[in-house]
Amino acid sequence: MSSAARPALERVADVDELPPGALKGVTLSTGERICLVNTDGEIHALGNVCTHQEFAMSDGALLPGGIIECAWHGARYDCRTGAVKRFPATDPLPVYRVRIEQDAIWVGERIR
Ligand code: FES
Repeated sequence: MSSAARPALERVADVDELPPGALKGVTLSTGERICLVNTDGEIHALGNVCTHQEFAMSDGALLPGGIIECAWHGARYDCRTGAVKRFPATDPLPVYRVRIEQDAIWVGERIR
């Protein structure tokens, strides 16, 4: 029986494409839309769809302390946990596993 299992990790970008302070939207082979975040050299991967009204989080801004802000109505989330930090969002963003290897950013399954 063939399986359509997702790859364990997918290479989504080179590290050079995501300098500190940057956000970048990518799409996994599963169709999941991901927002990569570099906060002070730590790279995180979150869902790229704001849970308020589905705006792309990668079009928003990274604030001090690893907080990302949606550009549409200003909802804020913690980029490490996906937790909501400011209304109007009420549901957290999903968080995905990240690995840095061979100067590349690899993203895996959802971890929270
Ligand atoms: S769509 Fe993101 S705050 Fe409204």
